[in-house]
Amino acid sequence: MKVSVIGTGHVGLITGVCFAERGHEVLCVDSDAAKIRKLKRGEMPIYEPGLKQIVARNMKAKRLSFGGSNADAVDFGKVIFVSVPTPPKKDGTADLSYIEQVSRDIAASLKEYRLVVDKSTVPVLTGERVKNVITRYARGRVDFDVASNPEFLREGTAVEDTLHPDRIVFGVETRRAEKILRDLYRNFKSPVVVTDIKSAELIKHASNSFLAMKISFANALSAVCERAGANVEEVTRGMGMDERIGPQFLRAGIGYGGSCFPKDVSAFEEISRDLGYDFRLLTEVRTVNRDALEWFVRKVQEELWIVKGKKVGVLGLSFKPNTDDCRDSVAIAVVERLVEMGAVVRGYDPESRRTAQEYLGKKIGYGRSPYDVAKGADALLLLTEWDEFRNLDWSRIVKSMAHPTLLDGRNMYDPKKMRAAGFVYRSIGRP
Ligand code: UDX
Repeated sequence: MKVSVIGTGHVGLITGVCFAERGHEVLCVDSDAAKIRKLKRGEMPIYEPGLKQIVARNMKAKRLSFGGSNADAVDFGKVIFVSVPTPPKKDGTADLSYIEQVSRDIAASLKEYRLVVDKSTVPVLTGERVKNVITRYARGRVDFDVASNPEFLREGTAVEDTLHPDRIVFGVETRRAEKILRDLYRNFKSPVVVTDIKSAELIKHASNSFLAMKISFANALSAVCERAGANVEEVTRGMGMDERIGPQFLRAGIGYGGSCFPKDVSAFEEISRDLGYDFRLLTEVRTVNRDALEWFVRKVQEELWIVKGKKVGVLGLSFKPNTDDCRDSVAIAVVERLVEMGAVVRGYDPESRRTAQEYLGKKIGYGRSPYDVAKGADALLLLTEWDEFRNLDWSRIVKSMAHPTLLDGRNMYDPKKMRAAGFVYRSIGRP
């Protein structure tokens, strides 16, 4: 089947590439001409395991191409995926102006039946608005359907998540739209949920908010564990064995970050408020997430006493391991708080030096290795749990530090081992 994708961000690019991998003919367009030029040369705008190879393979097989206008996308694909940015506005609601503009472009170019599918995370009722915009601006040439098919990919495992999703959601209004989507996904083995468009839109926001809530629950629990002298990892291990709860997303730490959870929880809270419901549970999810960061900063303060002028080494700057993405990274937020307090920070991250610099600039120094940032430091902070940090030469680090204090924001290490290695060691919710 011929498929067009408008918008080659993380979601759009991976969606297009994975449909090509499954045998469809895919055209990806983007208003950013420089990005398209790069993609044509086989250069990836994001780091994602396996992406470069899969793009090369499908371009060679002539199933995947890049470039052209939104009008070209409408001409090319029977199905048009829309995955343009929906950035948060100051009040937390999503800015839908790109979606509106693309809908108008689609309307202006409609010549024969097209299925317009929303892939971006959008507020409930967006599908309805897209339908209205296309109907109005198409002026009679109105043979189209709108559908919602949210993407659940995680950064770092995006290709794998898209090729083998836990579930595929179709929000549709007509049999025709459902049939096209079933055809499109016929080579995917995952279970399919067919529902109305509004429910499909809600599944995405509800899922992300629920996962954020699980993390905040674990973080709140860690505060109780610390006060009681219990171990949050043991408590969540016991909880997770209950099938109704499940073990995932119960890892306590310095909080969740990234381009989705913080944005989606705020947006969902605002969407609910607009609809007349005050989703106070989500307000608390956000508060606990912020608290997790502040509790950690307080631990650093307790250990250093006077923070001003102290040397702090930081391991990990991206919002999670295996990505160079620093958007809404809690690691960056911790570093910013410490810099505000006058700490002299040196950070190291295996992939994110360039992206971290976009946020931190010259406020901190950047080391070439974990050993480099530990040297002479009064405290070493583990903020993102990259595998590279798992087995370091701890005796070398202990010897090289001004004082061997290790604060573990992700419970990456065994407290006994770290104390035996000579560290003053503190982590999250563990004795
Ligand atoms: C998330 C969703 O998982 C994905 O389905 C959706 O499509 C986009 O948002 P992503 O933002 O890539 O994906 O990251 P994810 O792996 O979910 O982690 C989000 C944040 O939660 C990270 O900062 C991570 O460190 C934190 N986290 C995760 C915890 O603090 N504890 C956990 O137990 C799990």
